[in-house]
Amino acid sequence: MSALDNTLLEDILRQARPLIGQGKVANYIPALADVPAERLGIAVCTLDGTVYQAGDAEERFSIQSISKVLSLTLAMTRYHESELWQRVGKEPSGQPFNSLLQLELEQGKPRNPFINAGALVVCDMLETRLTAPRQRMLEVVRSLTQQPEINYDRHVARSEFDHSARNAAIAWLMKSFGNFANDVPKVLQTYFHYCSMTMSCVELARCFLYLANHGRSLGQEAAVLTPKQTRQINALMVTSGMYDGAGEFAWRVGMPGKSGVGGGIIAVVPGEMSIAVWSPELDGSGNSLAGTAALELLAERIGRSIF
Ligand code: DON
Repeated sequence: MSALDNTLLEDILRQARPLIGQGKVANYIPALADVPAERLGIAVCTLDGTVYQAGDAEERFSIQSISKVLSLTLAMTRYHESELWQRVGKEPSGQPFNSLLQLELEQGKPRNPFINAGALVVCDMLETRLTAPRQRMLEVVRSLTQQPEINYDRHVARSEFDHSARNAAIAWLMKSFGNFANDVPKVLQTYFHYCSMTMSCVELARCFLYLANHGRSLGQEAAVLTPKQTRQINALMVTSGMYDGAGEFAWRVGMPGKSGVGGGIIAVVPGEMSIAVWSPELDGSGNSLAGTAALELLAERIGRSIF
């Protein structure tokens, strides 16, 4: 077993780098297609706040669906359990992240909060209970990372809104079943802004430390979530964080994880550390290809798995 340090992380990136070229950078949003495919970064934050890093760990990128963990976190602090899970399920979907198939068969109730349909319902709920959901999200993330300049990339958000047919269809379908309260374009805007947030691996590892630390962030008096809510989010990340690639990810990496089509993945070793990787090329499920490999290598080298 290897000790966790910057040299280990550099070694892991050296081993994962040859995989670049085998995946595909997301191009369904023009603003994402321009990101250089050879970027590769990793950062690990341990419970005492120590950060280890290698590669392009300080370059910001579009966090995309990783934001779904943050919107769920926010919703869990604003809604009672019974209200929240009546609108969205807790089961893996086994379908691509933007699928409409199950939604019609299951009367507009999304399988889980990490597929697009589920995240849109969560954003709809935030729209109902928060006066300024976009501003509130920035406040939360800035305080979790201690980085006051974290922001939305308005170019990416705009680009998504201009190519939003599928997400709009998902939202309208849910509205037709009575599972969507607010104005669809307004909620889509909030959702796209959340997805467009740009953060680096170092910032992501710091941001999600609360998932490794029983709901507590470093340097914050109040807990982000209760220990029980934290276990629940980690459980959902294991079963649904990687969409139809969740089984493969659990098999290879053995940690709760959440991906985004910007090529980022966050992963958690409960009670020990939060990890963020970035490599823009994706596999067939929309998860970072070299990023997953880097996490698999890290899990093996430091001998960690939740199983
Ligand atoms: O809704 C979308 O299409 C994107 N903004 C987010 C999708 C995403 O990141 C899926 N993750 N792998």
